[in-house]
Amino acid sequence: MTDDSDAETDPQDAIDAVATDRDDRVYDHSAGDEQKGIPFVGAGPGDPKLLTVAGRDLLADADLVVHAGSLVNSELLDEYCADAETVSSIGKDLEELIPLMRDAYEAGDTVVRLHSGDPAIYGAALEQMDALEHEGVPTYIVPGVTSAFAASATMRTQLTLNEVANHVAFTRPQGKTLTEEEDHISEFVGMGDVTTCIYLGTHAVAETMERLLEDGHDPETPVAAVYHASWPDEDVIEGTIGTIGEKVEEAGYRASAMVIIGDAVGGEDYERSFLYGEWASGGSSDGSQEADD
Ligand SMILES: C[S@@+](CC[C@H](N)C(=O)[O-])C[C@H]1O[C@@H](n2cnc3c(N)ncnc32)[C@H](O)[C@@H]1O
Repeated sequence: MTDDSDAETDPQDAIDAVATDRDDRVYDHSAGDEQKGIPFVGAGPGDPKLLTVAGRDLLADADLVVHAGSLVNSELLDEYCADAETVSSIGKDLEELIPLMRDAYEAGDTVVRLHSGDPAIYGAALEQMDALEHEGVPTYIVPGVTSAFAASATMRTQLTLNEVANHVAFTRPQGKTLTEEEDHISEFVGMGDVTTCIYLGTHAVAETMERLLEDGHDPETPVAAVYHASWPDEDVIEGTIGTIGEKVEEAGYRASAMVIIGDAVGGEDYERSFLYGEWASGGSSDGSQEADD
């Protein structure tokens, strides 16, 4: 536990105090606009090239970058904000992080909070933003490439695939945060046409697959575990519900992999889409339904 004497507000009070009315900034700005305050920037999956241009420009101006530790590639920090002070958020609680960012911002420093992937996915960004806003520091989000998208690019497939996968679930397994009842992986897999992307589950691949087998799912269902997608040591492990647990354990990975379950993993047995078929030749030009892109 860190000394919280510098925090003016309990972060939970800030969350509880969030106004129910929509903030005007929602209508006045678009994602990617530079705004007043501290940007919460998605660093992307690892490769510095997969940071957005908006994120790169913000980092170039930063005096202080508070980043997500080992999930943010140090090469990205070296390349885009070599002159900034960089601080890892690992091991710091809100009581330490909020005053750190607030004080630097109030002292006139340009502060960037750098999350891995996209801050909107398992990023715990909003509680930091609300705590800062509660203390008068404006904040906003700059999106990034989430690791599921990097992993699907690595696998050279789509997460949605005509006649194979109509839906995508971003999920995580039961553990400290989720109870057994809140773990919906088995339900997603049972739906059949869902690609299930498991974050924060590398250490528990074998147990997760065991549960799927106990629930009667087809052991031949394809699964890929992409370790460190887009990093120089990226590794792709392919298998099935029946085999992937052992393969990941053999490889020794306990963190930093994206586990993707479903037929879309193989990128095969799909049907051509309407986009380059009937619709392209004028079959549906009345705008009544959105075309795939
Ligand atoms: C705390 S979550 C953060 C997710 C992040 N906000 C995102 O959008 O990718 C961390 C988990 O994301 C996944 N992850 C993050 N970066 C990854 C990468 N480069 N390759 C594979 N999985 C990654 C892993 O499952 C890891 O346990």
